[in-house]
Amino acid sequence: MDETSVNASDAALVRPARMDFERALVLDTVRVTEQAAIAAARVAGRGDADLVDQAGTDAMRRVLNELDIDGEIVIGEGERDEAPMLYIGEKVGQGGEGAFQVDIAVDPVEGTDITAKMIANSVAVIALSEKGGLFQAPDTYMEKLIVPPPAAGRVDLGWPVAANLESIAGSLDRNVHELTIVILDRARHERLIAEVREAGARVKLIGDGDVIAALSAVMRGTNIHGVMGTGGAPEGVLAAAAVKCLGGEIQGRFTPRNDAERARLDDAGVDLDRIYRTEELAPGQHIVFSATGITDGDFLRGVKFFKDGARTHSISMGHRSRVIRFSDAVHLWGDDARVTIEV
Ligand code: FBP
Repeated sequence: MDETSVNASDAALVRPARMDFERALVLDTVRVTEQAAIAAARVAGRGDADLVDQAGTDAMRRVLNELDIDGEIVIGEGERDEAPMLYIGEKVGQGGEGAFQVDIAVDPVEGTDITAKMIANSVAVIALSEKGGLFQAPDTYMEKLIVPPPAAGRVDLGWPVAANLESIAGSLDRNVHELTIVILDRARHERLIAEVREAGARVKLIGDGDVIAALSAVMRGTNIHGVMGTGGAPEGVLAAAAVKCLGGEIQGRFTPRNDAERARLDDAGVDLDRIYRTEELAPGQHIVFSATGITDGDFLRGVKFFKDGARTHSISMGHRSRVIRFSDAVHLWGDDARVTIEV
């Protein structure tokens, strides 16, 4: 792309359009989730969710501040008064002239409880976009429906559960009883779980972590064919960034838990009756997404430590650059680290 073909969205980037935003940042971005995952994994299994969150957040913030970006956290650890680090509105990166201006959504430890208990599928996760490219979802709940690429455009959150299952099954050329649907194991999902089971599909209940479940649903080979139910709205935006890069579809409807959340959604201009789709949750032309396994999961391995280092497994991708990269990295600590690398 040359400078003459710059569009409105490219114009939001400080650098000339011919500099590829995603290519420049995607490898750096993996470093961010790798370091967050290593730090969280180091204190995993101790039963302390706050400790893993703190460790992951510290590490993620440290590496973000090394990057050549002028970044703003739009989805983070909370509002400024409740989160000391990676709070919404916090500026990160080296900044300065020529730095990429980006909005950033983070979840340094997606699944703090499962990390503390060393249960499967916890990850460190981040998404970056040009300014305005990620919906600034307030920290409320969102009812979600996430489906694989063949089912995109063939489901509707407003339909009965059985109708969506039929459609997913049809798109995958299989029967409903050959589907596995991930649902967060929560009392609020009692009816949904019963409906999915009555329709004949299998339900995989998870303790936490519907972002990585979203990735599993839109990728082949995981034996997961959809995500249903209500989880965090910020996690819905992170999932949307990944779904936009991988294909598939996410639909979400904001579901406030109380009047305070209803007021915040109102302030943010959210329409509670509306079903938000992938493009509205992650409207950016440029999206960079990265996730690194903390504990072993459906398709990412967790952090493995050895004497002088650690091994990590990540997925990273760019929406425009059309590269989906799995990276298996060995991190050595100290000049004297001596290890024999195992393939
Ligand atoms: P944490 O990362 O804060 O531990 O949350 C993980 C998570 O399970 C998300 O994946 C999910 O969207 C949300 O929490 C569900 O919220 P709740 O635990 O309140 O049902």
